[in-house]
Amino acid sequence: MDLKYFDLKAILDMDDMFRRYFMNTAEGFKNAALLGTANSDGLTNLAIFNSVVHIGASPPLIGFIHRPVTVPKQTFTNIQQTGSFTINLITKGIYKKAHQTSARYAPDISEFEATDLQAEFGRKVKAPYVAESPVRFGMSLEEIIPIRSNGTYLVIGKVQEMFIRKDLIADDGNVELHKADIIAVSGLDNYYLPELIERLPYAKVPATT
Ligand SMILES: Cc1cc2nc3c(=O)[nH]c(=O)nc-3n(C[C@H](O)[C@H](O)[C@H](O)COP(=O)(O)O)c2cc1C
Repeated sequence: MDLKYFDLKAILDMDDMFRRYFMNTAEGFKNAALLGTANSDGLTNLAIFNSVVHIGASPPLIGFIHRPVTVPKQTFTNIQQTGSFTINLITKGIYKKAHQTSARYAPDISEFEATDLQAEFGRKVKAPYVAESPVRFGMSLEEIIPIRSNGTYLVIGKVQEMFIRKDLIADDGNVELHKADIIAVSGLDNYYLPELIERLPYAKVPATT
């Protein structure tokens, strides 16, 4: 393999924009989700995030990383105000609209209207869901952990309710995301359609004979 070597200094010396693309993409594919929130007056907000991460299944906890809050950010503020948010996976059919939610719309503009995605409301969580999303989680805020290393935040929520397209749920509980054309993202602008290669059995240490 013909590899190029970078030490920390070489990475820090990169042009800012180059380093941003480089570090955001080199570390691998990520999921992309739309986080739906509403402020205390009920004004809805929607924004794309690529840092949604599984924290645990029992209790069901999901987190995401929020950048340092240097300018007012609606998702972060709304979650702090109301204690709830939704996570909506993105399909091939809506990825362009989903991407557009990252634009810096004024706080009084709802990205649902700006991007023509439909807001839908659930049963237990006041935050809005994306009607076009086949996999949706309604979350209550558990904790916000400031990350000292760089001023970002790990926002952790507990799943209060879920809506999933019925045909995606296999008999053993496996959710077959590829059947719904759920997309993945690398960095902030490379959108992919993942393909299932194979589902493998639980790995065990081979028996010695
Ligand atoms: C593909 C993609 C992924 C993103 N992921 C994150 C993320 O994980 N964390 C974050 O703080 N911002 C992320 N952003 C930026 C937010 O979408 C952007 O700041 C947005 O304006 C936030 O909206 P809000 O101010 O309404 O909360 C991402 C943007 C794109 C295009």
